[in-house]
Amino acid sequence: MLSCKKIYKSYNTTNMGSNTVIDNVDLTIQKGELIALKGPSGSGKTTLLNLISGLDNITSGEIIFENHNLTLMNNDELSYFRNKNIGIIFQFFNLLNDLTVIENISMPLLLRGVSRKTAYNKALELVKELDLVERENYKTSLLSGGESQKVAIARSLITEPRIILADEPTGNLDAENTEKIIKLLINSCKAFNSSLLIVSHDENIIKHFNTVYKLDSGKLSS
Ligand SMILES: Nc1ncnc2c1ncn2[C@@H]1O[C@H](COP(=O)(O)OP(=O)(O)OP(=O)(O)O)[C@@H](O)[C@H]1O
Ligand SMILES: [Mg+2]
Repeated sequence: MLSCKKIYKSYNTTNMGSNTVIDNVDLTIQKGELIALKGPSGSGKTTLLNLISGLDNITSGEIIFENHNLTLMNNDELSYFRNKNIGIIFQFFNLLNDLTVIENISMPLLLRGVSRKTAYNKALELVKELDLVERENYKTSLLSGGESQKVAIARSLITEPRIILADEPTGNLDAENTEKIIKLLINSCKAFNSSLLIVSHDENIIKHFNTVYKLDSGKLSS
């Protein structure tokens, strides 16, 4: 379904020349496939997710999602493509902090032109599932790290995306919530027949996955 072919990413840093962060990565993700990705801090995990979602541009190589070549899309096409196909759980949440929990979770559906009522009802189901009912009308700036993480997870699930890219989605949660969230993510992917690429260092998460890849200095291995 998604294939990355010989992708490279390097950043030009003013005083040190260019720095290769993703180094000749080949990665194929099948429909419904569940993959964990681990690797030391700075190895390029977040960068790889940003490249796959088209939030950052590759230096060379190709990323193909079904018959669409992401490398050839302009920013408007990429935004549309992301909203239609990808759910992203950012490492640092990227919530809209002037908006409430329900508004944040509903946003991807509102952007698709779904009515406010339909979007809020669907958001409410996720709010219940994630035990956020008491926070539903709070602005997200007032939430704890773990609560913010749950909102980011709910926002990624609301569109029933074809692929979920999750960047350490339980880094702020306790063991009980971690187990709950990982089950919700895996069960949701199975229900939607979606793929999941999840970045984590936590063995309690990694044990749920048959396919585990490792990034080390931008090189991917299994
Ligand atoms: N915009 C940028 N400009 C220059 N260098 C960057 C940029 N973004 C990331 N890097 C560098 O790329 C490398 C990989 O960063 P990345 O955030 O992908 O690591 P990571 O594996 O997600 O780490 P962590 O586990 O700490 O989240 C780092 O050395 C970082 O400094
Ligand atoms: Mg990261």
